[in-house]
Order: sequence, then C-alpha cells, then structure tokens
Amino acid sequence: MTTVKITADAIRKMKGRTKVAALTAYDYPMTRMLDETGVPLLLVGDSVGMVVLGYPDTTHVTMEEMEHHVRASARAKPNALLAADLPFKSYETPEAAVANARRLVAAGAEAVKAEGGRNILPQVQAILAAGIPFLGHLGMLPQHVVEEGGYRIKGKIQKEHDALLADAEALAAAGAFGIVLELVTPPVAAEITRRIAIPTIGIGSGPDCDGQILVTHDLVGTFPWFTPRFVKPKVHSAANMQTAVREWMSELGA
Ligand code: KIV
Repeated sequence: MTTVKITADAIRKMKGRTKVAALTAYDYPMTRMLDETGVPLLLVGDSVGMVVLGYPDTTHVTMEEMEHHVRASARAKPNALLAADLPFKSYETPEAAVANARRLVAAGAEAVKAEGGRNILPQVQAILAAGIPFLGHLGMLPQHVVEEGGYRIKGKIQKEHDALLADAEALAAAGAFGIVLELVTPPVAAEITRRIAIPTIGIGSGPDCDGQILVTHDLVGTFPWFTPRFVKPKVHSAANMQTAVREWMSELGA
C-alpha cells in the first residue's frame, strides 16, 4: 500500500523510472480497495456510464453524474491521485472547461482529464492556469464514438500519425502531467512515448507506453457482457458472485 499521497507531479516524475499503473474507480469501496493495492493513479472515468449506469456509450454521462461518483470515490480519501473525466460537451469553451473542472475538484477530484489535443488547447491552458492538474487523452476518443461510428485504432495512416504526435507535443508543452493513449497503433504509441517528456498511459496501445490504464470492471470481470479484445480478465468476479448466490439459494432451499 502506498503510504504517501501521490500528486500529479509524482506521476509525471515516474517517466523513465517506474511503469504507471492506473485503474478506474467510481465509488467508495472500489476506490478504497484499489488504493490499498498501491495503484498510484485512479480515474473516475466517464466509462462509469457504460459499466455502471448502463448507457450504450459515454456521451450520455452528465456533470451531475460525474460529481456524484467523484464524491463517492473521494470519500475513500485515497493516497492515489484521484483524477476525473470532464464529460461530453462539458468543455466546449475555456470558460466552461474551467467552471466544470472546478466543480469536479469541489467534489473531490485532484486532476481532470478531457479528450482531444490541439483542438482543445485553449481549454487545457485555461484549466492549468486555474491550478488544476490536467491529464490528456488522445487516440480513439470515446466521446466521439457516435460521430465516428465505432471504436477504431488510430495512427495507422500518416495523417493520423502526424496529428497524434503534434497533439501529444502540444499537450506536453501546455503542462499536462500525462497523456492517455487509447487504441493507438503500438509503433506510434512507442514513438510518442519516446518523443515527449511526460508519461504516456496506454489502453489498447501496446506494451511500450510509460504506463497502462484499464477499466477495472474489464480487469476483474464485473461487466462480463463485453470485454475489450486487449484485456484478459484476471478474475471472473461476476461468475464467482453468481456461483456464491446459487450456492446460498440452494442452502436456503429456494
Ligand atoms: O473513461 C474511462 O474510463 C477512460 C479510460 C478508459 C482511459 O477514459
């Protein structure tokens, strides 16, 4: 268990020293349980919309829902850095980005994440100028899944490769403490990792990132109806729970 409080700067300094392990957490018991393992970065991701709230994708998640889950997670007072996602359409302008980032911080978040690169740079700069640590997110952007028509690997064509590198460099120069790379083709994720001075945290982007992040439900099998291809669950918790419930029912004679 980590006994020291992890800051955004501590995550930034892990580059080149230790792999950054990061997981999602959306409530008090999960945050407390994961924190006891020593994972240094926990994200109240808008994936909560899919694996907890039953939405088809993350575009339905509201600020109020994010605040509710951030509050629950923050009550666990984790030593891990607690970051939270700015939900869909909550950062359309620098003013909205700062106001909503402040709402997440008031709920207990210690950093915020938003999806995009140079297209949201004024928002990122405004969040950082307000003193709120920022985690970037490039590659497949789940908040764009409806307009893009699916979850597709990014970086295979030259235009995407060049755009990803320019976006990563822009976020690093702006002062982000790390960048999540989602579904970026592994050679491009490796190249970005070599080129920027802050940690890249991959999800479905190959082994060469500075760290990895997973949706905890995928890792522990609590959302068994869909598991991304790049995740091998370490435990099948839903099946184990169903076995326990069936055993209890049979002991009961139900
Ligand atoms: O919402 C989320 O859980 C995320 C991670 C998958 C990176 O953004």
